[in-house]
Amino acid sequence: MSPPSDRTPSPDGSTPFGDLLQQRLSRRELLAHGALLAPAALALPSVAGATRAPAAPGLVFQPIIGSREDRVQVPPGYTAEVLIGWGEPLFTGTPAIATRGLIDGDLLSTGSAAAQERQFGYNCDAIAFLPLDRSGRRGVLCVNHEYCDPRLMFPAKRQFKSPRPGWAADPRLEAVQTMMAAHGVSILEIRLENGTWRPVTDSKLSRRITARTPIEIQGPARGHALLRTAADPSGTRVLGTLANCSGGKTPWGTYLSAEENIEDYFGGYPQYRESGRGDARTLTAFARFATSERNIFGWETIDPRFDMRQEPREALRFGWIVEVDPQDARSPIRKRTALGRFCHESAASVLTRDQRAAVYMGDDTQFEYIYKFVSRDRVNLRQPESNRELLDHGVLYVARLEADGSGRWLPLVHGQGSLNAQHGFADQGEVVIRARAAADLLGATPMDRPEDIAIHPQTGRLYVALTNNGARTMDPVAMGAERPGLDRRPDAANPRPANRYGHIVEIVEAGSDAAATSFRWNVFLLAGDPQSAGGRFLTDAAAIKSQQLAATDTYFAGYPERDKISPIGSPDNLGFDPEGNLWIVTDGEQPRGANNGAFAVPVAGAQRGHLRQFMSAPIGAEVCGCEFTPDGETLFLSIQHPGEGGTLEEPRSHWPDGSGLPPRPSVIAIRRKGGGVIGS
Ligand code: FEO
Ligand code: CA
Ligand code: CA
Ligand code: CA
Repeated sequence: MSPPSDRTPSPDGSTPFGDLLQQRLSRRELLAHGALLAPAALALPSVAGATRAPAAPGLVFQPIIGSREDRVQVPPGYTAEVLIGWGEPLFTGTPAIATRGLIDGDLLSTGSAAAQERQFGYNCDAIAFLPLDRSGRRGVLCVNHEYCDPRLMFPAKRQFKSPRPGWAADPRLEAVQTMMAAHGVSILEIRLENGTWRPVTDSKLSRRITARTPIEIQGPARGHALLRTAADPSGTRVLGTLANCSGGKTPWGTYLSAEENIEDYFGGYPQYRESGRGDARTLTAFARFATSERNIFGWETIDPRFDMRQEPREALRFGWIVEVDPQDARSPIRKRTALGRFCHESAASVLTRDQRAAVYMGDDTQFEYIYKFVSRDRVNLRQPESNRELLDHGVLYVARLEADGSGRWLPLVHGQGSLNAQHGFADQGEVVIRARAAADLLGATPMDRPEDIAIHPQTGRLYVALTNNGARTMDPVAMGAERPGLDRRPDAANPRPANRYGHIVEIVEAGSDAAATSFRWNVFLLAGDPQSAGGRFLTDAAAIKSQQLAATDTYFAGYPERDKISPIGSPDNLGFDPEGNLWIVTDGEQPRGANNGAFAVPVAGAQRGHLRQFMSAPIGAEVCGCEFTPDGETLFLSIQHPGEGGTLEEPRSHWPDGSGLPPRPSVIAIRRKGGGVIGS
């Protein structure tokens, strides 16, 4: 889509971000230029009011075949370039990590953690691109960093015992602090020059948020007794953000990052629970969201706040949605407790019909739920700073999907229904801290690992990735003490037993309004190999409802030509291009043993369901991000954990540096050679 011609850029070609927000206020302009400025595109569903999806023009790229090669592959006519990778500096005066030195323990040297605090973090995941001017060639990129792989950062543990010259006096401490610094969020300015996006290392927007950056706790759980610790008796300020997986950007120009598998970061819970010294209310808070026995990175041996025997409530201060304003590198960062505490994945925002904010979220664990938050107050696009408390007041809902294709958003509001002291919820703070338990009481529908949620830019329809669930079973066994009475059998919304390859559900809000409390839903796609002889290729939606399905049965929104559909497994992150085609990136097993990749599928018209593979990732990597520039000419993807399962001594991948070097997680930018809209 081409830029609008009816506006004159400011003399220097740039426009302050606040002005850009104002410029998108006219509804006519929103519709006309929705694809120019990303948050405007987010605003479209509230004004379009469409109930029928328009026919997308279709996708005409030549699909690629799933690959096991250790490289990024894209269709003919496209290029994929590394934009920034782990260890590259965001600030001038900071060196880049030398990949070649990793095996010698470079990251165990004094100063490694301090440098990492100024370098791009590890395992990039969610990407948000916000244009900084109307040219489309300057923007701010927000990228979060989910976790670290110490085996690909530091030499084998036995080498720690024979330190080399230059190593820190306590190499383990340096390693832990370097890992902490490699978590969080990176914010950087990027520019498009001669068809290539490049980071700007001296930008005033450059920012690193790590596992130790002070963050304000906001919303109904701020100051709650369950969030008070020895280091923070007020329960209002936490150090850092962890396990940041998918996320999103808001219509008012902020970045939302989702804290997912935070249970991996704390150790000693079983001992705390069985010590007899545990506080009953704290123990109850962990009943539906227990932490692991050990911090999988050993942090509790260095920092007592990760040792639950010493600080049992620190873990309750993680598992939230984090909001940051990428326009101001000094702005406070906030955890938004009104949006609930669980294994957060996705924070897809849109305006409701009456201009309030709705945020859709998944809880990525087997048999967990889909959530939505709707703000109390309206979004003020004229004054972005006045939306500072927007995500602190509103209603958190959880989804119940009925077998007849209807659905309801059930409010998690203290004092309503059974969410009261009699049932163990003293106040709204406790409802959001124990969101899973509250959702259990309301009868929410347990799903097959809800990951990302994408909102169609024209219709407002939702697409929910259910990545897989091997524990979905025909045997009516309970799931142990943690979930008494959980029915693990397939149901209408999760119709396959042993759901190995995952599926996608399509949701239409009542009146196409994100504030609705009811919706209609249907299965959009049952992933797998459509050409597999071992499974049925279904084209009739009625067959999904009326028959008992097998794990290998597939369905692609009714598209009938099975030979034209690419096999796909484990859908994770989702995105829409400006034309309204759905893009799916994967994290997990592929039906024919190929690497993870990126796929595209129209959701309307005759090509609805015609899914084709667009990109193949290096060995061991999952693909995340899936963010388009508003003009549709660049697709940003995160290549997360390339070479997973390998070590520095025996790497499985050498991407992207090659030459036998160990892998580095990196963000890539995909473009058409010579420019043009991707996919068209
Ligand atoms: Fe971090 Fe649910 O993927
Ligand atoms: Ca992941
Ligand atoms: Ca994910
Ligand atoms: Ca995943």
